[in-house]
Amino acid sequence: MIRFIEDTNEKRKISRQVLESLTEWFEVDSSREGYIEGSAGWPFWVSIDGDEIQGFLCLKETGSKTMEHAVMGVRKEYHRQGIGRRLFSAARDYASQKGYEFIQVKTVKPGLYEDYDITNDFYKSLGFKELEVFPDYWDEANPCQVYVMSLRSCIETIASRHSYRGAYLEDKVPEEDLIRIARAGIDAPSGCNKQTTDVVIVNDPDVLNRIKAQLDPPVAQTAPSMLVVLTRRINAYRDRCFAIQDYSAAIENMLLAIVELGYQSCWYEGHITDEDRICDKIADILNIPSEYEVVCLLPVGKAAEDFHAPSKRAFNERVRFNRW
Ligand SMILES: Cc1cc2nc3c(=O)[nH]c(=O)nc-3n(C[C@H](O)[C@H](O)[C@H](O)COP(=O)(O)O)c2cc1C
Repeated sequence: MIRFIEDTNEKRKISRQVLESLTEWFEVDSSREGYIEGSAGWPFWVSIDGDEIQGFLCLKETGSKTMEHAVMGVRKEYHRQGIGRRLFSAARDYASQKGYEFIQVKTVKPGLYEDYDITNDFYKSLGFKELEVFPDYWDEANPCQVYVMSLRSCIETIASRHSYRGAYLEDKVPEEDLIRIARAGIDAPSGCNKQTTDVVIVNDPDVLNRIKAQLDPPVAQTAPSMLVVLTRRINAYRDRCFAIQDYSAAIENMLLAIVELGYQSCWYEGHITDEDRICDKIADILNIPSEYEVVCLLPVGKAAEDFHAPSKRAFNERVRFNRW
């Protein structure tokens, strides 16, 4: 049974009991004491069977949109019984109901320690996506791997996406968000898994200005960052090339990630691949190898203006059940 615990002393008692049973995981005693003290102040769930404490988990707020999966411990004798999964599910429902959009977790980069690899695999199996590595977060020997999970429904995000062609606010887009967006792009399906789509993130003001100077008619002139989408037109099998399908799937994923993170964008492809071949000029600016082609530009930034959804054909005109 999973219970939400409010009493700080009870939280301390539970986390001490579980973490002390996992002593070998904590080489430095002070880090365990820090976890026990920290967990007393955060939303906290315990898994119990009668009087027997099996494990606990707590989340802490790290920003207005994000909760961090801060501490979790399951006693060894209860491993591999789905307890971590059930604790996480309760925590996830809580974060979602409170309006948070992401849960993130920091662990040690995969491939260094067997114990942490088990933990990393656990997060991946829950649906967390590998994000950044911070080399010196703890110390040089233990690079920190960040995982993130989105709590917003994909269908809500799809419904709120529209092409935005207005001005952008000056606010810089944090690199962490640009990485999340590009990650969503390269997570897209691709024909025969050929992964023909690559992305260049542009947030250096000089490079941005050089690209903007090529855009005729001028669009996205105030965007604080852009993603440049590249394709490699190779065959997936025999003479079948799926490069267009591959990059289209990647672009849509990135547009959805952009909207989900509170930014706006527009799929600028016609604009840059027309007769004047702005795409080739962008490829020169970015030093793109000749086997790649620039096919699309996605500005990323916060909208400075209101915008309206364009009208679309009626649902019943485009979607049918069972027959035309
Ligand atoms: C392949 C493709 C190329 C596009 N190229 C451009 C473009 O060059 N300039 C532009 O303003 N919008 C471009 N768009 C955006 C479409 O105009 C837009 O998606 C369409 O009008 C529907 O509006 P919505 O995105 O708000 O649903 C492109 C979209 C696609 C799928």
